[in-house]
Amino acid sequence: MARESTKQEKKTPPANKAGANTAPDAIQLLTADHRTVEALFKKFEDAKDDDERKSDIVIDICDALSVHAEIEEEIFYPAAREALKEDGQDMLDEAEVEHASLKSLVEQLEDAEPDDELYDAKVKVLCEYVTPPVKEEEGEMFPKIKKSKLDLTELGGEMAKRKSELMAAAEDDDGEDDEEEDTEEAEEEVAG
Ligand SMILES: [Fe+2]
Repeated sequence: MARESTKQEKKTPPANKAGANTAPDAIQLLTADHRTVEALFKKFEDAKDDDERKSDIVIDICDALSVHAEIEEEIFYPAAREALKEDGQDMLDEAEVEHASLKSLVEQLEDAEPDDELYDAKVKVLCEYVTPPVKEEEGEMFPKIKKSKLDLTELGGEMAKRKSELMAAAEDDDGEDDEEEDTEEAEEEVAG
């Protein structure tokens, strides 16, 4: 009898601190995103010369970072600005500037192939762009926000909803890109 494919296995959502099966709050959600992206960068390093695998991982990295940056900019940072008042403005300004450079590199990588010149270098620099802001958010920004009056549970719900919309849109885009690539390849084959 055929063994059921492991691909069918459902991903279980990470349990929150209380261990209850409730939705993660805003900070838990963002922290989980950070761990996901770190794990993807590690996977990329481990993929070494496997170009197909590298390209798949980079698509995942770009999607995860774009969606993460978007929910921070659209929902989390504005709420944090309100909650932290003067105490958080500089930190949040910096975070937005950091996102701008991150996004430009993500855009370059979205159109790149693993055999392109500087591909690996771009992934490495992207990882270097991500690491310090993650430390700053987790070490400085999040603890301040936890002490504020911000309703992190409600905010987390809003962010999770927006995140799934954005992830679905990103996956649709990736699918379209694949189709385009297949058509191009087929055309090239026909042309010889
Ligand atoms: Fe973040």
